Amino acid sequence: MASSPMLIGLTTFLLLTASALFGQAESKVAPGPKPAPLNLTGILEKGGQYGTFLRLLRETQVGEQIESQLNNSFNGLTIFAPTDNAFSNLKAGTLNSLTTQEQVSLVLYHVLPRYYSPTTFETTSNPVNTQASGRSGVYTVNITSSSNQVNVSTGVNQTPINNNLYLEFPLAVYSVDKVLLPAELFGAKPPASSPSPASTPVKPKKSAPAADGPSASADTAPSAASRKGRSVERVLLLGIGLACVGSLL
Ligand SMILES: *[C@@H]1O[C@H](CO)[C@@H](O)[C@H](O)[C@H]1NC(C)=O
Ligand SMILES: *[C@@H]1O[C@H](CO)[C@@H](O)[C@H](O)[C@H]1NC(C)=O
Ligand SMILES: *[C@@H]1O[C@H](CO)[C@@H](O)[C@H](O)[C@H]1NC(C)=O
Ligand SMILES: *[C@@H]1O[C@H](CO)[C@@H](O)[C@H](O)[C@H]1NC(C)=O
Repeated sequence: MASSPMLIGLTTFLLLTASALFGQAESKVAPGPKPAPLNLTGILEKGGQYGTFLRLLRETQVGEQIESQLNNSFNGLTIFAPTDNAFSNLKAGTLNSLTTQEQVSLVLYHVLPRYYSPTTFETTSNPVNTQASGRSGVYTVNITSSSNQVNVSTGVNQTPINNNLYLEFPLAVYSVDKVLLPAELFGAKPPASSPSPASTPVKPKKSAPAADGPSASADTAPSAASRKGRSVERVLLLGIGLACVGSLL
């Protein structure tokens, strides 16, 4: 059959072309570290519906803290950004009933001290510390998932995590439709007024905290995942190319 050498020739040609193209694409990506500094404010402003959260980040100075942590963090950060709608669905006066310190805790509760991609959420073990947790295991959240749905749960309320605004190590920003209500502030027990020993909320730290925990895998996981994604794309493209060749013959 004459078509057999022709097929081999075409396939070789296709493979060479494909690898040349991908090689090019990769070398274009290679000069990687983008100099553009991460800008949470910019990301949220662009989203257009995070005015209240932006104001809280500013007033509590947690925003500044996050920016400097992003510069120094080995584990990255994950932010749950409640929409303006989420805030307006709170009972009237909820924010104003909190002390300044409690507002700081509430905002820090929306920040996880690690970069979580959607896939790392699915394999995380509960409870998960937030930036409000300090060392005492309070102000934690649980991440629950079933098939394609991942939720964040506070013990008081829960909301799906399915809409990311930014997803590139070291920063993940997810939009959430509810303000996460920590049990420490909104649980069944009488709030704040009780002078319980647990009421020593973390101060807004000016300096970045030491990245504790041996979770260096956080750095490698997302990039491994995206590498896998790319190679899947390659296989798909190659398959499509071969199918075209097949239909030509
Ligand atoms: C972040 O973005 C906002 C709005 O786009 C801008 O006003 C601000 O100067 C930026 N900050 C940095 C550090 O780039
Ligand atoms: C973060 O690093 C960039 C560049 O390295 C610097 O311009 C910026 O001021 C730093 N921001 C903070 C809050 O430390
Ligand atoms: C996620 O939360 C929704 C309510 O917001 C609930 O209906 C659903 O069962 C939850 N799913 C999981 C996996 O927790
Ligand atoms: C998280 O889940 C654990 C069990 O895994 C449970 O004991 C705890 O109350 C939950 N905490 C929250 C905040 O939902």
